[in-house]
Amino acid sequence: MPSPVLEVRGLKKHFVVRRGLFGRESAWVKAVDGVDFAIHPGETLGLIGESGCGKTTTSKLILLQETPTAGSIAFEGRDIAGLAGAELMAYRRAVQVVFQDPFSSLSPRMRVRDIIAEPLEIHTDLARAAIDERVGQVLELVGLTRDVAPLFPHEFSGGQRQRVAIARALATDTRLIVLDEPVSALDVSVRAQIINQLEHLQRTLGVSYLFIGHDLATVAHISHRIAVMYLGKIVESADSDALCARPMHPYTKALFAAALPSRPGDRTESGTIVGEIPSPLSLPTGCRFHPRCPSAMPVCSEAEPSLQRREGAGLVACHLY
Ligand SMILES: Nc1ncnc2c1ncn2[C@@H]1O[C@H](COP(=O)(O)OP(=O)(O)OP(=O)(O)O)[C@@H](O)[C@H]1O
Ligand code: SF4
Ligand SMILES: [Mg+2]
Repeated sequence: MPSPVLEVRGLKKHFVVRRGLFGRESAWVKAVDGVDFAIHPGETLGLIGESGCGKTTTSKLILLQETPTAGSIAFEGRDIAGLAGAELMAYRRAVQVVFQDPFSSLSPRMRVRDIIAEPLEIHTDLARAAIDERVGQVLELVGLTRDVAPLFPHEFSGGQRQRVAIARALATDTRLIVLDEPVSALDVSVRAQIINQLEHLQRTLGVSYLFIGHDLATVAHISHRIAVMYLGKIVESADSDALCARPMHPYTKALFAAALPSRPGDRTESGTIVGEIPSPLSLPTGCRFHPRCPSAMPVCSEAEPSLQRREGAGLVACHLY
């Protein structure tokens, strides 16, 4: 297997928050609490888990919008913490993002041409004519036409706007795109079109994706491998087909059994997962999933299971195995 585009090792992000009268007490939110994964060239890694489990924080660490509390992120073999100058610029060109909501992520006052040209103007020294040509190329790549360049975002449908966001992400010499719930805000009828477009672009360009989502069916469809996250930790990761055929971790099984609540406080209808996600300010002892786990044993509240490779499966963190 070729070496990874991105390799994350022991990654942590703990936020300090003030509590109590006059905010004197401080507590830690362990949003990302020791995460390891790798993404290979042309591969899609799906990252799935309930609201608040640390998916977006993980993506912000990769996008240099947050600084890790511990751990490392290596891009094409280089630790990104040590990048500066031209190398840092090259990293910012190579790793791009598409957010959930194309209505708020695209500036309403900018024309599509300028939205897509912006990363080229910041990160390259291309002349205006060359930038216009590149804008036209990426518009065609994402299934739009060159003549939409002068339009404003409000002149597009939701799906078309997300295509503009993808075009912007592809404008530079992009090797990895972080897709943070890119279809969650779209009509169901449009979602499949955008997913198909992303798959087509990957086959054509060899770009890698970190695909973040709540919806297991969508994540499983587009991903080669899936990492399941719960309260800041990865509890299971495996090839997409293997994970769907034989989920091992009780949380992954519950993800398959029930539509997960997409917002804190929402309830699942089947009740497969009992209770709400614990507060990240006071994490359960032992296995973080034990208060909600239908298979919990006495050891589960005492010892935290580590992520181990299981025979015929991927990595699982659970005392059952
Ligand atoms: N700047 C911050 N300060 C304090 N806590 C934060 C901060 N950013 C995120 N958090 C907390 O970290 C945890 C993880 O948040 P994150 O946004 O990464 O979750 P998520 O998995 O992306 O959720 P969602 O599915 O709702 O997008 C949450 O408890 C969140 O409240
Ligand atoms: S370690 Fe125990 S509580 Fe945690 S998922 Fe496995 S069985 Fe459930
Ligand atoms: Mg998020």
